[in-house]
Amino acid sequence: MDGHVIILGLESSCDETACAITDNGKLLANVISSQIDVHRKYGGVMPEIASRLHLENVGCVINEALNVANVKMEDVTAIAVTRGPGLIGALHVGLQAAKTLSLIYNIPLIPVHHLAGHIYANEFIKPLKFPLLAVVVSGGNTELVYMKDHLNFEIIGETKDDAIGESYDKVARVLGLPYPGGVEIDRLAKTGKHTYKLPTPLHDGSLNFSYSGLKTAVINLVHNLEQKGEKIIIEDMAKSFQDVAVGMVMDRVKKAVKEYKVKEIVLAGGVSANSYLRSEIVEAFKNTDIDVEIPPLWCTTDNAAMIAKVGEYLYKDKVFATLNLGVDPSWRIEDFKKF
Ligand code: KG4
Repeated sequence: MDGHVIILGLESSCDETACAITDNGKLLANVISSQIDVHRKYGGVMPEIASRLHLENVGCVINEALNVANVKMEDVTAIAVTRGPGLIGALHVGLQAAKTLSLIYNIPLIPVHHLAGHIYANEFIKPLKFPLLAVVVSGGNTELVYMKDHLNFEIIGETKDDAIGESYDKVARVLGLPYPGGVEIDRLAKTGKHTYKLPTPLHDGSLNFSYSGLKTAVINLVHNLEQKGEKIIIEDMAKSFQDVAVGMVMDRVKKAVKEYKVKEIVLAGGVSANSYLRSEIVEAFKNTDIDVEIPPLWCTTDNAAMIAKVGEYLYKDKVFATLNLGVDPSWRIEDFKKF
């Protein structure tokens, strides 16, 4: 259609199969098929099952998105697809579907970095304001990303081991809470007290994170208390853990804004749904000239709208891939044009 840039976005990096359609930036459809109920039985995402479910669902979500948007495949200008980071088998499914559509309809194939998607999800609410600090906190990643401008990503701090969401999920599991545990810990911590002493790892003055030691400390403490037959107050354990986990994010964010002059801080990724992190970050910057952008909950979970949004910017820059494109499960955001 003349004058219209219609992007079909596809996302399959973890446990959501999703397709979205944007028309000159306007979101026309945002279809998500979540596998959470299946993975919950196993206490976490089972990669092989995730890939199979993506295979079963990818065609359906594409079809439904086209129907909801009232768009024909012939009208789509380009396909934007998550190329990484994520689960290798899961990523392959989305990429293969995207390549097939690109080949059949002879339209550009745009590889999108999943975390760039999480950051750009905020653009559905308000245009990003540069320079900015993106606080990317998810199940697979924990990074501070400095952006001077659109599509200009510099990682200024990152986890040296586990991601924050991963530690939430593991701690939840040892406390007998269902997957995904982050939301459960968030809920229980609201009525808990910080009574358990836990270590705050990595005091090297850098902007990096470490969550493995904290997670292990909770697991060991829970096992010790169980062996001694002492009752564990789950709400207090949740609160004690969350204070340290979110405290580490807040410490690094406060340090980062001293080093990097930014106009805005944006939260991104699944853990940005955390109510304590949201209130702490708003409180910390409320009397400053730095804006804090808190994404609505629909933007924090994996979706394809955010992939289509980055796709629009990459389309303008003509960042297109050929059909021999492969996935990259550990793709770095700074390398988003290298594939
Ligand atoms: O962004 P996401 O879907 O994962 C990746 O793409 O890597 O985020 C999922 C993560 C899970 O670890 C989940 O437990 C966590 O986000 N999460 C939360 C909350 N809601 C989801 N963690 C803490 N508090 C929450 N309210």
